[in-house]
Amino acid sequence: MDKLVIEGGRRLSGTVTVSGAKNACLPIIAATLLTDERSVIRNVPSLRDMATMVKILRNFNVKAHQEGDKITVEPAGYKKYTAPYDLVSTMRASICVLGPLLAKQKRAQVSFPGGCIIGPRPIDLHIKGLEALGAKIKIERGYVIADGSRMKGGHVYLGGHFGSSVLATANTLMAAVLTKGVTVIENAACEPEVADLVAFLMKMGAKIKGQGTHRLVIEGVKKLRGADHSAIPDRIEAGTYILAAAVTKGDITLKNAKMEHLLALADILMESGLSITKVPNGLRARYVKKLKPMDVTTLPYPGFPTDMQAQFMSLMAVTGGISIITEKIYPERFIHIAELGRMGANILLEGPSAIVKGVKRLSGADVMASDLRASAALVLAGLVAEGRTDVHRIYHLDRGYERIEEKLGRLGAKIRREKEK
Ligand code: EPZ
Repeated sequence: MDKLVIEGGRRLSGTVTVSGAKNACLPIIAATLLTDERSVIRNVPSLRDMATMVKILRNFNVKAHQEGDKITVEPAGYKKYTAPYDLVSTMRASICVLGPLLAKQKRAQVSFPGGCIIGPRPIDLHIKGLEALGAKIKIERGYVIADGSRMKGGHVYLGGHFGSSVLATANTLMAAVLTKGVTVIENAACEPEVADLVAFLMKMGAKIKGQGTHRLVIEGVKKLRGADHSAIPDRIEAGTYILAAAVTKGDITLKNAKMEHLLALADILMESGLSITKVPNGLRARYVKKLKPMDVTTLPYPGFPTDMQAQFMSLMAVTGGISIITEKIYPERFIHIAELGRMGANILLEGPSAIVKGVKRLSGADVMASDLRASAALVLAGLVAEGRTDVHRIYHLDRGYERIEEKLGRLGAKIRREKEK
């Protein structure tokens, strides 16, 4: 297993290219199962999650391969419809093959994805959406077993205790595009990744109204064709590099980053004192004055993303005054607090809120990455800490950040990957 070794205290500056969005690519790759024809997805990051998705497709006897930032899928005549435990358990997002299989094969068996380190991750909304289309679903031997032979368009309100759901919206949408009749999804997730999936489905010939809104209206078609699509840039990766500029008092230009995907985050940071400006084909984040403490609540899009909560905590940890961060999507997503504490951060957890008292300095330490975004938070903390930080178990990072040590290295960070002894 690898670890990252960071010598902190360097100011980062220069240009970084933002990769394609992992969370847009995953459901889009699943959507290629809706046709027999060849599809090409471009701007795909080289990440472990993409390799897992390719493996899942191959498990259905579908030809799929990644070459650079392009994934080509040739599903012609595939018949299998079971996604087994050993594949699904390595990546929760594998659940997004459920909708396409059901629409195309009229049946699906997908291992129940279970919870994960960021807290319980139920799939009741996925089931609610598919049942609204008439699918018969049961859970047996740890599998979601779905029969879609009698599906027809339906009307569903897809909201739960924590609001809309990204992948439940994706699954219901992908099931509806090939299902006879009109389907209406109310309270659909409107994250840019869902809008990008809608764009891909429309290129395949799907009839969808309401792209990027909370109400999607889908008129089922008989057949879809293959499509060629370039994924949107990764707003969470972009946000993480913006924070790298903030914590190191640096000046980073982010090629491909889109302000319209980052409004909540940019608003809070600019209010705090960071300069974020649009430049041709990207954004520039520049430390210009002492930052003020922040008050952040995670919410569904266009609110502040839960996938940036951990990284923000690292910035708050070194920002003078008291900052508050409230997690409303995954109230247990706070494992990173203990690790940041090892580096000298002063953070108190009070229910779903973390109260962060900014300290003058963090001190490098051995820390353990617990999940993808928590790992990124520890890297940010390592960049600003005095001395050496070893971030262990970085296989999580490799699921979601393409060549992070190379990108940070080019910006001036002293960072290297080492094999654990
Ligand atoms: C997506 O997961 C992302 N993953 C997550 O990113 C992200 O944290 C999350 O959306 C929220 O933005 C992918 O896109 C592959 P949800 P998803 O269903 O769709 C509750 C990362 O680090 N809920 O939108 O699985 C759920 O518990 C990952 O890149 C139900 O109650 O998340 C949560 O509180 C981690 N019932 C809320 O909804 C359900 O059936 C939103 O989750 C489904 C979800």
